[in-house]
Amino acid sequence: MDGDILNLPAVLDLCRRYNALLMVDEAHSLGVLGASGRGIEEHWGQSGRIPVLMGTLSKTIPAMGGYVTGERDLIAYLRHNARGFVFSAAMTPPVAAAALAAFDLLEREGSQRRARLAANVERFSRGLRNAGFDLGPTQTPVIPVMLGDSTRALAMAACCQARGLLILPVLPPAVPEGTARLRVNVTAAHTSADVDLAVDIISACGRDLGLPT
Ligand SMILES: Cc1ncc(COP(=O)(O)O)c(C=O)c1O
Repeated sequence: MDGDILNLPAVLDLCRRYNALLMVDEAHSLGVLGASGRGIEEHWGQSGRIPVLMGTLSKTIPAMGGYVTGERDLIAYLRHNARGFVFSAAMTPPVAAAALAAFDLLEREGSQRRARLAANVERFSRGLRNAGFDLGPTQTPVIPVMLGDSTRALAMAACCQARGLLILPVLPPAVPEGTARLRVNVTAAHTSADVDLAVDIISACGRDLGLPT
């Protein structure tokens, strides 16, 4: 929710100290973090260190469903016990094909797309920070526009939507009380003009609502 990056070495140390099993949900890091987009482990140079690594196929990989990686016994256990797996139909062939095609694309064009993504993130963050918005501790393409009060976040989202920008608020209990925000994801597919338009709309709505304070 804050766009910050897990301190994996510190968490692995804690797991060692307390003999705990680590599971990481890397919904937002696959394809984005790491020199070749392999996610949080590659980002920290700790490949293969997370015992249970799961992710979605609904973000960087624009398909549906998700995956869990881990030791063979764990995966066998999940196959026979995980509710979503046991009681759901299998992934459909078109969805599997879309996910495979996206993984191929990541391998072929990932670095150019990550460069484009980083440029968009930089442009968007700079624009909003110059307009006086607080973007919290983000280090990634998940960019929270911190607004504090839920009513303010709802009003900002409604204003942006009325001006043609699809943007959604995130409110407690999904985030701590007093930290309501707009949660924005810039992508590699946005053009510079898209990014500038989004900054202009958010800034104009902010002015209309007397923000940022
Ligand atoms: C960290 C995290 N995990 C899982 C999900 C849900 O993924 P899916 O829609 O594929 O179930 C999200 C969605 O925003 C997410 O942010």
